[in-house]
Amino acid sequence: MSDVPAPAAPLGAERRSLEPLGFEIPSTVPTHWYNLNADLPEPVPPHLHPGTREPLGPEDLAPLFPMALIAQEVATERYIEIPQTVREIYSLWRPAPLIRAHRLERVLGTPARIYYKYEGQSPAGSHKPNTAIAQAYYNALEGTTKLTTETGAGQWGASLSLAGALLGLTVEVWQVRSSYDAKPYRRFQMEAYGGVCHSSPSDLTDSGRAILAATPDTTGSLGMAISEAVEAAAKDPQAHYSLGSVLNHVMLHQTVIGQEALVQLAEAGDPVPDIVFGCAGGGSNLAGLTFPFLGRNLREGTTTGLVACEPAACPSLTQGTYRYDHGDVAGLTPLLKMHTLGADFVPPAIHAGGLRYHGMSPMVSHAVNLGLMEAVAVEQDEAFRAGVTFARAEGIIPAPESTHAVSAAIAHARAATTDEVILIGLSGNGVLDLPSYADYV
Ligand SMILES: Cc1ncc(COP(=O)(O)O)c(C=O)c1O
Repeated sequence: MSDVPAPAAPLGAERRSLEPLGFEIPSTVPTHWYNLNADLPEPVPPHLHPGTREPLGPEDLAPLFPMALIAQEVATERYIEIPQTVREIYSLWRPAPLIRAHRLERVLGTPARIYYKYEGQSPAGSHKPNTAIAQAYYNALEGTTKLTTETGAGQWGASLSLAGALLGLTVEVWQVRSSYDAKPYRRFQMEAYGGVCHSSPSDLTDSGRAILAATPDTTGSLGMAISEAVEAAAKDPQAHYSLGSVLNHVMLHQTVIGQEALVQLAEAGDPVPDIVFGCAGGGSNLAGLTFPFLGRNLREGTTTGLVACEPAACPSLTQGTYRYDHGDVAGLTPLLKMHTLGADFVPPAIHAGGLRYHGMSPMVSHAVNLGLMEAVAVEQDEAFRAGVTFARAEGIIPAPESTHAVSAAIAHARAATTDEVILIGLSGNGVLDLPSYADYV
């Protein structure tokens, strides 16, 4: 007989206190999220009701989201205070390091000064907990006991499961089939945190069953998994839905990344980078890193260039159209004005599962449309080659998603003729994605 104690009660059965613990937090952990809406020259087009095509009201979103997040979705004030309980949890891994890539510079033989902002040391391995914690907190505060969500590669599902464990919520995840089959470790991670993970499309929802009937061999997509998670939340009065990217409040929460980077670059003596590269799936790590720089461009006239790096296999910004579209396949979500390949677009099963999304954040789409941000598409082979170059120079193995930013930044640095300053968003580590690297090592 073992006298090892039983694990903590699973699935949020025991609710955790939402009160701050009261310990001292480093002053370098941001106290506020930054809202780009305060500085944009034109407002982001509103989300529309899928039936009436009228701008959404709070009551339309109330079945899915807590009021605090609905308010943040349309907020216009420049700074929104981060609740102390959320800051305390952030302090487990924040401030995230900003690292000068000296060895990469030498390998590339570039005169450029390259920095990367590393989000991969969060407990889940990516930037996703920055919003997972905030979303779980506001849901728990308003009495919700369960969250449903979708996930691609599993980074988001793992992050929300982590948040559920820390804040006492049950978490149920629909994971895109191609990733569910290819990346079981993230599912184990979700389960270790007490989350439950299903392969999507599943036979647990009407939308999943309809998709399976029409295309039984589909690899799945984020659009399909979103339909399933939204439907499950809408049918369960105890549950709310949580989205890991795309929506305005998600972009807001991720701005802790760029706000820290502004301070850290100033401390490093390079306060105004010439160019910033971030990978873009639904846009959240990119927005989180770049929006504070974009806000400064708009307010103070700095000219930091901002580049969204998307996969050539799912090129919503570079090949999609800018129009109203659904965020999911079944048409359950509001209509969002965004760069889209069409809600029924099923991207090839590339390794960067987190970039397989047909649409793009309305805020990022708007910034690109206004010419405030550029976009490039990166082939998978180029991205992994860059990931390997980066790993062998800097030690960190980037997440497959992050390699897209690394690739575009390396190409830029190779062509550089001056000591310009380049900043890369390294959104996650790839230690649970190592099989994807097999063909490139
Ligand atoms: C490490 C990592 N980077 C980037 C992304 C893409 O999402 P987003 O564009 O919202 O940052 C994901 C999505 O799962 C991810 O896991």
